[in-house]
Formats: sequence, structure tokens, C-alpha cells
Amino acid sequence: MKRDFIDLWDLTPEEAWEIVKLTKEVKEGKKDLGKPLIGKNVALLFNKPSTRTRVSFEVGINQLGGNSLFFQEKELQISRGEDVKDTARTLSRYVDCIIVRNHSHTWLRELGKYASVPVINALTNLSHPCQILSDVFTLYETFGEEMKNLKIAYLGDGNNVCNTLLVGAGMFGLKLFVATPEGYEPNSYYFKKAEEFARESGADVVLTHDPKEAVKNADIVYTDVWISMGEEGKSLEVFKPYQVNETLLKEAKPSVRVMHCLPAKKGQEITEEVFEKNADFIFTQAENRLHTQKTLLAFLFKALPA
Ligand code: CP
Ligand code: NVA
Repeated sequence: MKRDFIDLWDLTPEEAWEIVKLTKEVKEGKKDLGKPLIGKNVALLFNKPSTRTRVSFEVGINQLGGNSLFFQEKELQISRGEDVKDTARTLSRYVDCIIVRNHSHTWLRELGKYASVPVINALTNLSHPCQILSDVFTLYETFGEEMKNLKIAYLGDGNNVCNTLLVGAGMFGLKLFVATPEGYEPNSYYFKKAEEFARESGADVVLTHDPKEAVKNADIVYTDVWISMGEEGKSLEVFKPYQVNETLLKEAKPSVRVMHCLPAKKGQEITEEVFEKNADFIFTQAENRLHTQKTLLAFLFKALPA
């Protein structure tokens, strides 16, 4: 049975932990993923820009011995209205895996339903599971199991990254406070999922509109752009109290570290000063997309090393 990775909950918490722990061993050179993708072709279909996701997947596929084929959606018949299920059934006859970045999450679920090969979500309007699996790995490689005792604050827009971070916190037993302006809360379905996982894992997931409440004594502050791809034209005014700047960070622990999934809009959700102070951690976060996605691919191809 093929496995998709469209939302974090397409993995069980045990499987997600296995991927995170194995990624650490592989990154440290203690285990080798080998070349499980030799002779395999992986299609990437993107209708939004991407630097990290596209490049890390293409490099990772290559390092695992596979071949990647990148398509802008506008080059394919989907752009002329070909059925998602026909696209899924056709591509499944040619390639061994389909990685998609598009707006509609529903469309992607439909693609997963009709494709007979694994489908991976490279970001939709609702969810960015590769990002968050990798971010949990970044926390795990830095703090180990202690990551469960850290206070993590997410500030800004309740977007795809925020939705998925909530679910990730629930699955991995983390303590997450999310502060967004009124009207920009995360998706209620994702929050409900996070609460369900939290009941099992002991996680704390809290929603607030007060940025200071979220940042108070925080060990980690996470932010993302206020205007996601496809939301251009949105007003920024309401987000200003949620900017990650030196003044707000005075509420956090002196050892606070800042995370950003990138790309960053400096001067909006984060100041240049805070960004540069945390640049090493932020670019390690970016690097880890490569390591985590390689383990994910090996998992989906049922080729994890013993
Ligand atoms: N964080 C992330 O997904 O970056 P890209 O949009 O560059 O892929
Ligand atoms: N929320 C952002 C994330 C980019 C990686 C967006 O959807 O544009």
C-alpha cells in the first residue's frame, strides 16, 4: 500500500519520531540511507515559487540515487482544466512519486486519492508538513528530548506553517503558544487535530491574541511571513504588534532562539537585527529540510536502514 505525506497525520506519531531520530543519526554519519531511489523518477509539480523546498528535494532525490523532473503547473494540461484524477492516473504510470506545491489542499488530497504512487505535499494553502517535520528535527538535534519542556511561541499569521506547527506540537508533545491577530487565527480543523494529539502526547497547545503572553519566558520564538503566497494585497497594520523585535524578545528567556521557515520579509514579521542574531540557527533550519526529506523519501519508499 502506497503512503502519502499530505498532512503530518499521514504518519503516526511513532513513525514521525522514527524519521526524526533516524535523520539525526544520518546527519551525524552514524547511519547511511544508501541509494534507495536508484532507477526511480520523482516528479515535482509546482505552481508557486520555491527556493528551499524545490532545491532540497531535487538535491535529496539525486543524493538517494533517483532522478527528479520539475514542472511548473502552467506547462501541464492541468492548467487547461485536465481532471486531477486523470493527471494522477497518468503520472502514476510514469513516475514513482509526485511532490506538489499548489494552493488548494483539497485538490492535492484528490490527487493523492487517485495516484497509485506516494504523493508529498510541498506546501498548500493549509499545510506545510515537510517544513514542520524538519523543524521538529532541528529542535530535536539541538535540544534532544528536552525539546518537550521548552516554551515555543509562534507569532503572526495563522497560516499553513502555523496550522502544521500546531499539529507537530501535538504529535511530538511540545508546548506551543500561538499568538495571532483576531480574524487571523489558525484553521480550526488543524487546531482540533493538534488538541487530539496533545491528549495522547502531553503537549500544550494554546491560542491567544496577546503576543506578550506567548513570548513570556519563551525558549523559542517562531515566525513566518504575514502575507503568504497567493494572499497579496492583505493589510499589514493588524500584524504590527506581532513583529519579532528586540523589545518583544525582552519578554522571552535571555537564551531565546528565533526560528523562521523562510523566506523572510525583514522589517515586517522580523527585524533585520533579530534575524541576523539568529541567522545561524535559521539557516540550519533551512539546511535540515534536505536531511529530513531524504529520510522521509526513504520511509515512503519503504527503504529505511535497520
Ligand atoms: N520554507 C520554504 O518552504 O521555502 P521555499 O518557499 O523557498 O520552498
Ligand atoms: N506561509 C508562507 C510559507 C512559505 C514557505 C507561504 O505560504 O507563502
